[in-house]
Amino acid sequence: MNTLEGKIAIVTGGASGIGRATALTFARAGARVVVADIDGPGAEATVEQIAAVAGDKAAVAVRADVSDSDDCRRIVQTALDTFGALHVLFNNAGIIRRTTALDLDVEEWDRVMAVNVRSVFLMCKHAIPAMTEGGSIVNTGSGWGLKGGGNAISYCASKAAVVNMTRALAIDHARAGIRVNSVNPGDTDTPMLRDEARQLGEDWAAFQTDAADRPMGRSGTPDEIAQAVLFLASDAASYITGSALVVDGGGLA
Ligand code: NAI
Repeated sequence: MNTLEGKIAIVTGGASGIGRATALTFARAGARVVVADIDGPGAEATVEQIAAVAGDKAAVAVRADVSDSDDCRRIVQTALDTFGALHVLFNNAGIIRRTTALDLDVEEWDRVMAVNVRSVFLMCKHAIPAMTEGGSIVNTGSGWGLKGGGNAISYCASKAAVVNMTRALAIDHARAGIRVNSVNPGDTDTPMLRDEARQLGEDWAAFQTDAADRPMGRSGTPDEIAQAVLFLASDAASYITGSALVVDGGGLA
């Protein structure tokens, strides 16, 4: 049942990390995929990788800023124009600023909120009316959206907002056959996390093994998050909505 055969999916932030891995996983599971990212060449590169495993009609790239309403509308319209329907939306694009409240300026706070939270609202606002055959939306929270974390005040606030917005969306759209869940990764080996280690001046190998929130002694892989997203997106999760699925190797335990 973990299949997306015949389904049309949008992945935001599909040029890198978890988004790229999930776009590839969706395509391998039979979906046709709109890969949206503010990094246009990166999105094109993901589409090329999908073409290699699922053919050159399986994906299309869109350069878009998900904090912008017109861009979000254009992403949805691309799905309808290219593939004729929309069933799955993975709201994955996100950014982080590693600072306390004291060092964060208002513009940076607003940008994190716009990219991480406003984007989820905007993408859902435009995508839900297009999901006329029902659908599944997966929003990206974080372990830090559930328990908080140090030196990331705007990020923690933004991800908590995503988790609760997910519950509210799930309630509002359940009767329309649309399920809405959040996936909440722990530290996952992506360009974002490696950049954080650099910003914090930490050696990558030590960063991986030392942290108290990594009982397994390692970060997750993008593919491990992608498998959880595929489950939530697919009909295998047909009675799951409003949930916050934690994929963190025991970090919250
Ligand atoms: P990443 O930095 O590797 O990929 C994020 C992608 O989002 C990039 O391709 C970037 O260009 C795109 N993006 C950024 N701003 C955008 C915008 N305004 N419009 C469109 N695209 C935009 O990051 P990663 O690690 O793959 O993160 C993906 C999601 O997972 C994010 O929401 C992140 O907060 C979340 N997450 C990541 C964790 C980790 O340890 N890597 C842990 C928990 C959550």
